Amino acid sequence: MITRRALLAGGLGLATFAATGESPVRAAARRVPLTDPFQLGVASGEPTHDGVVLWTRLATDPLAPDGLGGMPDRRVPVQWQLARDENFRHVVRRGVQEARPGAAHSVHVELDGLDPGAEYFYRFRADREISPVGRTRTTPAPGTRGTPLNLSFASCADYQSGWFTAYRRMAEDQPDLIAFLGDYVYEYGDYRHPVRDQAGGECLDLAGYRLRHAQHKADPDTRLAHAVAPWVVVWDDHDVENAWAGEVPEQPDASFLDRRAAAFRAYYENMPLRRAQRPDGAALRMYRSIRWGAVANLHLLDTRQYRDVYACTGKSGTVGPDCQERFAPNRTILGREQETWLDERLRRSRATWDLLGQQVFLMEMDWINGEGKGYSNEGWDGYVASRDRLTAAIEGHGRNAVVLTGDVHSHWAGEVKRDYRDPGSASVAVELVTTSVTSAGDGLDEYPNTGTLLAENPHVRFFNGRRGYVRARLTQQEMSVDFRSVSRVSEPGAPAYTSGSFVIEPGSPVLNLA
Ligand SMILES: [Fe+2]
Repeated sequence: MITRRALLAGGLGLATFAATGESPVRAAARRVPLTDPFQLGVASGEPTHDGVVLWTRLATDPLAPDGLGGMPDRRVPVQWQLARDENFRHVVRRGVQEARPGAAHSVHVELDGLDPGAEYFYRFRADREISPVGRTRTTPAPGTRGTPLNLSFASCADYQSGWFTAYRRMAEDQPDLIAFLGDYVYEYGDYRHPVRDQAGGECLDLAGYRLRHAQHKADPDTRLAHAVAPWVVVWDDHDVENAWAGEVPEQPDASFLDRRAAAFRAYYENMPLRRAQRPDGAALRMYRSIRWGAVANLHLLDTRQYRDVYACTGKSGTVGPDCQERFAPNRTILGREQETWLDERLRRSRATWDLLGQQVFLMEMDWINGEGKGYSNEGWDGYVASRDRLTAAIEGHGRNAVVLTGDVHSHWAGEVKRDYRDPGSASVAVELVTTSVTSAGDGLDEYPNTGTLLAENPHVRFFNGRRGYVRARLTQQEMSVDFRSVSRVSEPGAPAYTSGSFVIEPGSPVLNLA
């Protein structure tokens, strides 16, 4: 039998691209040959059991101040190939897509009809230039048991704060899937003493956000991490502006929704997202789910776009003065629509694990050392009724939920309780908080107040204050977790080590020491 794969399988290497003989490509190549247009690397994302998104963005000069990557103001045909092997002997799909100036010459190729649970390799060609090769994979077929999920997750990659060594170490593990939980870029202006110089100053408009993304994508550690595995991404505040809440910016700004729209547009252009995540002005539907056979559903949540403004002060503060508003029953951090969607997803889930990929601390956390209590109004502590509805949904639908969190620039692990006022309260879920890739600099394993913080929050069981990422392996029998730390980000090339390891078993939402 002649398979479609055999029919589509082309010749070797470059000859395969040339053989397609697309006349627009030849015409473009004659007109203005591009020099080194793949400096932003390649990426893939949003895997399903039969598809994935392939991404690249052409830039011959990533740090061009207008954010357009030095590209000419014309459409460029980009050829792409998908193969079963990294030498492209068995090409199973190919095509051409235009990179348009209006999309900052980004390309999103949305594939379906692929084999489930399969590894693929992909690359692009523009003019005579060939991109680096990326590795990606589809998820197991629906209901598939026994295929483990090797998942790594990370957050908070501030360019000025250091080297993206955590990305490189994460890539070396060759996970099946990488989840990024927010603050992929920082909108900040220039620091006085940065570890690395950023281009462009504070991001305020489309050119600024495009440039910031381009600088991040051109980083060799970032390029490696995107090339080894498909990513699923959600944003946090700095992908737009520090501490934004819905339509409310941190600083009064009548044109904030224009800024938000610019940030959303650049975010979409620079990420391997589906058309379903294409922004409509200042709106972008970010919440969605990824399935991994019968082992796990990963629900990606957006705690920024629909949240009510900050309780008690109207402004975010790490620890604000406390007040009753935190407990107001109508307050929401997800927005009603997303809450309903998530409840429905949990109700219908049949997977062993339901992972909630989101941004801010879900567990209650008293951040004041010793006397008195202080809660962040930016995390779920500022939206207690929203949290209660979520924990009720997890319990009510009988799910094994594990919450994956970013934002706070240190590793934490703990247990989400039904009622924090009751010391004997049942655990409802486990929360794993990943540290930053770079934000806050080198850090320390422990701080002088670490012991007290852990003692005063007995449901919180682990802390590490270095930079890094979290590596997890999920089967239907257990979820094992390694908190990975890098010894420094002020210089490139630091080693990574495991600062804490835990095992979670289905039916028992507690952390067990590995
Ligand atoms: Fe951050």
